[in-house]
Amino acid sequence: MNLPLRASSTAFPARLSARAMGALFLGGGLLLGGVAAGESAAVRARQGMVVSQSAIASEVGAAVLREGGNAVDAAVATAFALAVTHPTAGNIGGGGFLVYRPATGDPLAYDFREKAPAAATPEMWLDGNGEYSFEIHHLSHKAVGVPGTVAGLHLAWEQQGSLPWDQLVRPAVELAREGFVISHGLAGSLARVLDRMSQYPASVAQFSKDGTPYAPGEILRQTDLADSLERILENGPAGFYEGRTAELLAAEMESGGGLITLEDLKDYRAVVREPIRGDYRGFEIISMPPPSSGGTALVQMLNILEGYDLTANGFGSAANVHLMAEAMRRAYADRALHLGDPDFNPGIPIDRLTSKPYAADLRATIEEGRASVSSPTRFEWTDESSETTHFSVVDRDRNAVSLTYTLEFGYGSGIVVPGAGFLLNNEMGDFNGAPGLTDERGLIGTDPNLAEGGKRMLSSMSPTIVARDGELFMVTGTPGGRTIINTVMQTILNVVDHGMNAQEAVDAGRMHHQWLPDRISYEKQMFSPDTLSLLASYGHALREVDAQGAAEVIVHLLDEGVLEGGVDQRRADGGAAVHDDPQD
Ligand code: DON
Repeated sequence: MNLPLRASSTAFPARLSARAMGALFLGGGLLLGGVAAGESAAVRARQGMVVSQSAIASEVGAAVLREGGNAVDAAVATAFALAVTHPTAGNIGGGGFLVYRPATGDPLAYDFREKAPAAATPEMWLDGNGEYSFEIHHLSHKAVGVPGTVAGLHLAWEQQGSLPWDQLVRPAVELAREGFVISHGLAGSLARVLDRMSQYPASVAQFSKDGTPYAPGEILRQTDLADSLERILENGPAGFYEGRTAELLAAEMESGGGLITLEDLKDYRAVVREPIRGDYRGFEIISMPPPSSGGTALVQMLNILEGYDLTANGFGSAANVHLMAEAMRRAYADRALHLGDPDFNPGIPIDRLTSKPYAADLRATIEEGRASVSSPTRFEWTDESSETTHFSVVDRDRNAVSLTYTLEFGYGSGIVVPGAGFLLNNEMGDFNGAPGLTDERGLIGTDPNLAEGGKRMLSSMSPTIVARDGELFMVTGTPGGRTIINTVMQTILNVVDHGMNAQEAVDAGRMHHQWLPDRISYEKQMFSPDTLSLLASYGHALREVDAQGAAEVIVHLLDEGVLEGGVDQRRADGGAAVHDDPQD
């Protein structure tokens, strides 16, 4: 496989050598052709497409499609490549979710969320004085969950893949060993995280030149990571959860006061779950079940909004923003009350939360032109970080993969396992901090999401697939912590209700409400001053933010048999790569 060394936010033509690609990238020209006047430049392809936050990783996935691989093969290769080229969130030391919709047959959800180590307890983040400590919860070795990514990718491949495993892992090994060109975006990101990593010598060694930040255009080689990936290539999950890699990880835990043991690693299993299913204006919604809150809240919000004519109100109107905010407020309150790892919370009322009658009851509590008030009596959520990554894949048979995975914070815990070259997550921070901990800072301590050995922490990651009349229609997902569910919903509304193409649906401004804090956040310049005044007059508190999420979307234009990709430009280095053999 010819590997692209340099990222570019553009469509890749098939069968270009790395050298030719380098020349194109250096030229910096966009390869998009045939965009009609007035149409936003969505990437198009007939056969297959990968859209991710790293153009290099997208090209790795598209090359797998061109070599005859299916969507799951391409997703596995893309995910391993992202672990090299997009270290802020691409990972083998974290976890995530993959929603798969085969062209024929039933969709499935692969859950490879991290787990709490066996020794975890609800009180494990209290300090010596019995006080909850944000630092211990989010920024220490005790923030690290047992990683799930390698087990999850392997399980999905074992059940759905068609190409040999080593063929899918090899591009990542080569990218790690031979290196790739550091973009402006990555150079800036690495420079910003250096301070947080400074206490971990292996992290500093991997991501800087002895403490000096890399400059754009330099090559990032990650030899220890290449060796770890090679052990995965040769031995599958045993190459990560057992043997040298596992020993290095457990040793780092022991020296840093973490809880993960060799047994925790050996015991980790990814699981297959039934996706959440819903229906929105005749479109079938397929999304992630608990331990994600995403699919449940998404279907709940869409059910509420189905009762309104969003198209007539118009995109960005105060009326629509108000209705969306009220739907979000209600769904996020239920999220706080009910959701957690289903293996530890057998009674989650998913059927009720995702039912049309319940949505009608909630709709009846929404007043036109008047904001409800969130009550902080018992529940509030801490702020979450926004560094996760999502990608979407469709192959020539219209099998589709929607995959979101994460280290939680950008670069996770900041801890590179010495000798193993990969970053550890800080996903334990997604558990509630301590029992009964509900205070004005926005912390909570409700039962369903307290830490216990072997439990998965609650997530908002919402990889989602939309179908129409039995055919694939849309693949969507995004990073963004608790904003994820709302961003995913808005990409769907933008296409279904507002007639946008994939790129327009990604570009359009986004807003967010999460019950508490009780306010609408919105992307800058999304609303006119008139709209903001109207929303304020309804009683909404308003807060401008720079950007929300990084959605990577594919829409299947059923009439034309064409795939349309939307790449999020809010973060650097994203790209769509296509499989489009000229003879077809
Ligand atoms: O699982 C979750 O919901 C969070 N750990 C995701 C973090 C996240 O999205 C950060 N990203 N941009």
